[in-house]
Amino acid sequence: MATSHQFPAGSDAFPHNHLLGIAGLQPWEILFLLKEAEQWVDLNRKSSKHANRLDGLTVINAFFENSTRTLLSFEIAGKRMGADVVNMHAAQSSIKKGETLIDTAVTLNAMKADAIVIRHGSSGAVQLIADKVDCPVLNAGDGRHEHPTQALLDALTIQRRKGDISGLTITICGDVMHSRVARSNIYCLTTLGAKVRVCAPAPLLPVALDRMSVEVFTDFDRALAGSDVVMMLRLQSERMNGDFIPSPREYHHLYGLTKERLQLADADALVMHPGPMNRGVEIDSDVADDVDRSTITEQVEMGVAVRMACLDILTRRSRGVEGWA
Ligand code: CP
Repeated sequence: MATSHQFPAGSDAFPHNHLLGIAGLQPWEILFLLKEAEQWVDLNRKSSKHANRLDGLTVINAFFENSTRTLLSFEIAGKRMGADVVNMHAAQSSIKKGETLIDTAVTLNAMKADAIVIRHGSSGAVQLIADKVDCPVLNAGDGRHEHPTQALLDALTIQRRKGDISGLTITICGDVMHSRVARSNIYCLTTLGAKVRVCAPAPLLPVALDRMSVEVFTDFDRALAGSDVVMMLRLQSERMNGDFIPSPREYHHLYGLTKERLQLADADALVMHPGPMNRGVEIDSDVADDVDRSTITEQVEMGVAVRMACLDILTRRSRGVEGWA
């Protein structure tokens, strides 16, 4: 467990109603969420995985974009905590009949949800919903903006493998421009004291990086040198307007993580990917499936624990848990 950031005296309650992003969270708040998640990693490895903290509560997962990992892990997390979990898929909802996002939010609120988890293709849509409902809202990814539980599960994975995140050199490579995962991870890892390197072809580097405490590279080999962690990102063609790379083959030649290229990083460097992967484009199968280096399935496992912790913590006030009222 990391020890470089102490929890301030008396601050044993997470001081936010929602989890909309990592930006603005204090180091102790992130570490508090990670510490709480640890107990659920242990529970999830037992044959009986049930806790009853959310008994009688209703959690609505409203997904306006496709998902495998995030939707299923929020559903599993809610159920393991004892909540009644309902999934709303946009394709089968009245959004298809022209209902506005705000009307949908008001409708979910009228059903007395105790927590709403939202994934949406537009940056800021989750904030809009949080402003209209009475219960905690958890951002499951909004446009290019943030994917906070992904960054938390990545941080938990790194912390469990490497110990203190502070001082680690972490390289994030790929389609940074369109990636909410990159943005949330940059906020999370720099807040925890990591040295973050960001690498992409110039057209996939957002200008906003100038305002973040990261080192920017266009040469992947240079970025890899001395890295303790290498986090690869998918090319998000669904968010691209036009062509950003000459071809997937050329992209792989310059920015694909191969076994040979990985040798430039630290000898014990971890390989991470949030999924879904495009094998043979940003990452080769022999790297992704290397059980000694790749944490990709472990990240998925940590995702359930992190989401259990977030649902528990954000509903403590409404459940009247002592110290959280
Ligand atoms: N990492 C991630 O968000 O994956 P899904 O799109 O499958 O949820």
